[in-house]
Amino acid sequence: MPRKDFTTYLMQWNAQKNTRVMPWKGELDAYKIWISEIILQQTRVEQGWAYYERFIQKFPTVQQLAQANDEDIFKLWEGLGYYNRCKNLLFTARLIVTKYQGIFPNSYDEIINLKGIGTYTASAIASFAFNLPYAVVDGNVFRVLARVFAIQVPTDTAEGKKIFLELANSLLDKNRPGLYNQAIMDFGATVCKPFAPACNMCNINKICKAFENGIVNDLPIKEKIIKKKNRWLYYFIFLKQDTVMVRKRMQQDIWQNLHEFYLVESTEAITWDEQEIENILQNQLHISKYTLLHISPTIEQQLTHQKIKGQFITIQLTSIPKNIQQYKWHSRNKMDELAFPKFINQYLDKYFIENKNEM
Ligand code: ADE
Repeated sequence: MPRKDFTTYLMQWNAQKNTRVMPWKGELDAYKIWISEIILQQTRVEQGWAYYERFIQKFPTVQQLAQANDEDIFKLWEGLGYYNRCKNLLFTARLIVTKYQGIFPNSYDEIINLKGIGTYTASAIASFAFNLPYAVVDGNVFRVLARVFAIQVPTDTAEGKKIFLELANSLLDKNRPGLYNQAIMDFGATVCKPFAPACNMCNINKICKAFENGIVNDLPIKEKIIKKKNRWLYYFIFLKQDTVMVRKRMQQDIWQNLHEFYLVESTEAITWDEQEIENILQNQLHISKYTLLHISPTIEQQLTHQKIKGQFITIQLTSIPKNIQQYKWHSRNKMDELAFPKFINQYLDKYFIENKNEM
């Protein structure tokens, strides 16, 4: 896929469909952008919004922040936690006044050298305030790029960080870096969401490799999640006539080379009702005609370092979804030819094989 396509489609989405409103969006004052980004490192947008407005109201300029009492600032920060970030904020505000005459430095190299500002925040300030060509890479960007380009490298490794940063910079709209950076974050937050992304309404789905291969729910890969103690694995068992949709687990993870069904993994429990199921099937797989046959009780298994919990949702289909290239259709009578993890076998033995004639 030409990379330019991604940038073009993203900017089109931004111009035509992005309705997200936030007080720091479009802001050109580096000081205010800086405050918003530091607050957003601590908390979600919904909560950060009020903190930002209170902060800017009380300290509208870097000079006012620099002159403030430490205690007054800590009070405003209360509830956000991680007070070291707040201390750095004050230190840097005072440095900007003494070293830069109260004018926020306008080069990336100067910005990144300020205490408490890392590569993400420096890129955000440089691009939003000064339109400098630095791509931001935050959780949203990792997720969007991992999916569109089907990148299987864990995002939380040195190798992953390097690959994603390079890709992000190659995709950046160099004429409108600030607009592009905000667009990719908004796109990740509202369309390419962590759970139940709106793939069917996405104008980038035509070039999205994860969508094409039916692996949207598998990406991005995080080493920390793979090593996490509690994992929720929700398996959709798709039946079509007398075949079942399966794939082999290829990732560096538990159960490598064993088989499984269509997987939706989560770090929290999900309540599967008919609406939630319809959501996943329509959004990710374009399936609108199906019969829900069975939702299993929660099944648990304790591995050496992980507790696995999950459910199996059995769905009868009349046609094969387009975007599931990783998966194969296997004869239902020959399931015992395939190697499955014990977690799946427990379910198959109890519900699937025995009740085969009823389901
Ligand atoms: N998270 C961090 N910075 C953000 C921004 N500028 N917009 C939306 N979410 C963000």
